Amino acid sequence: MTTSSKDQLLQYLKETKGEWVSGESLSKQMGVSRSAVWKQISKLKEEGYSIESAPKKGYLFRKASELLLPNEIREGLETKLLGKGDIVYSKEIDSTNRKARDLADEGAPEGTLVLSEAQIRGKGRKGRTWFSPPKGGIYISLILRPTISPVDAPKFTLLTAVAIAEALLSMTPLNINIKWPNDILVNGKKIAGILTEMSTEMDAVNYIVVGLGLNVNTPKFPEAIQGIATSIFIETGKVFPRVKIIQEYLARYEAYYDMYKKIGFDSIIDRWKDLSEIIGKKVEVEVIGNQFIGKALDIDSDGALILKDEQGGVHRIISGDITLMS
Ligand code: BTN
Repeated sequence: MTTSSKDQLLQYLKETKGEWVSGESLSKQMGVSRSAVWKQISKLKEEGYSIESAPKKGYLFRKASELLLPNEIREGLETKLLGKGDIVYSKEIDSTNRKARDLADEGAPEGTLVLSEAQIRGKGRKGRTWFSPPKGGIYISLILRPTISPVDAPKFTLLTAVAIAEALLSMTPLNINIKWPNDILVNGKKIAGILTEMSTEMDAVNYIVVGLGLNVNTPKFPEAIQGIATSIFIETGKVFPRVKIIQEYLARYEAYYDMYKKIGFDSIIDRWKDLSEIIGKKVEVEVIGNQFIGKALDIDSDGALILKDEQGGVHRIISGDITLMS
């Protein structure tokens, strides 16, 4: 990856944070004209960087952009794979999962990230939409190419849930729970959702796209979902740095992904159970055309829910919509 002159300039400015630096010295350092420096500074300002300029003094770097710019995500990212290749960023998109699938179909390598400031048709599970306004949330999809069979794919939803739950536990004071299979809850309301999609061939997986929607600084939700949705900002009254959350999420994701590749899924399931609020509780599960009511006994090594119904029958449910009844 080549560093553009804009990236280079940004680097210089960041290094001189808190001090004025003249246009002349920047132009010398970079070997370009002062007007070229000025043009790049204007571009950085458009990207949301706070840079002061004054005649005779030059430029003063005040603050990094609050946008989810690939450069900002790369800086300080402690991974070897995820986010180390392409980070495909946009201000607005229909759905990051849709885009990631298209890229994966075209051969994009494992670790490619797609993220956007807003989504017009953010996809939820079961054809639902995911509320994706600008500035407030994180909408991110990652491409993985694990050597697994399709039946193992749901495990990645659980792995993702553990990674984001742990990232949030480490960075916020929130009491995070995971609800099977893919909801991250705070005080009974949904703060994040995961949509795992895959492409298969015969009985092998070509790729998996793991989409995460996380409500970070969203101040308010539409009335229809106010009772079921929340954000970190609503719960804590504080604005949280989205870039840092993404970096933490990716670092934890990669650690669990490596663990999965080395020793399998069991420890991840154990961690998932620690973080879940359903084991031992009475639940109702909707599975296409069927409804089960009973006690959630366990999650098995494939990530399936083991439910004991009120007649004592035991069911193994791979996917469904679960509601806590007690
Ligand atoms: C759900 O709980 O229903 C899953 C929601 C998943 C939303 C995320 S946002 C980023 C990615 N792109 C999408 O279109 N959907 C997922």
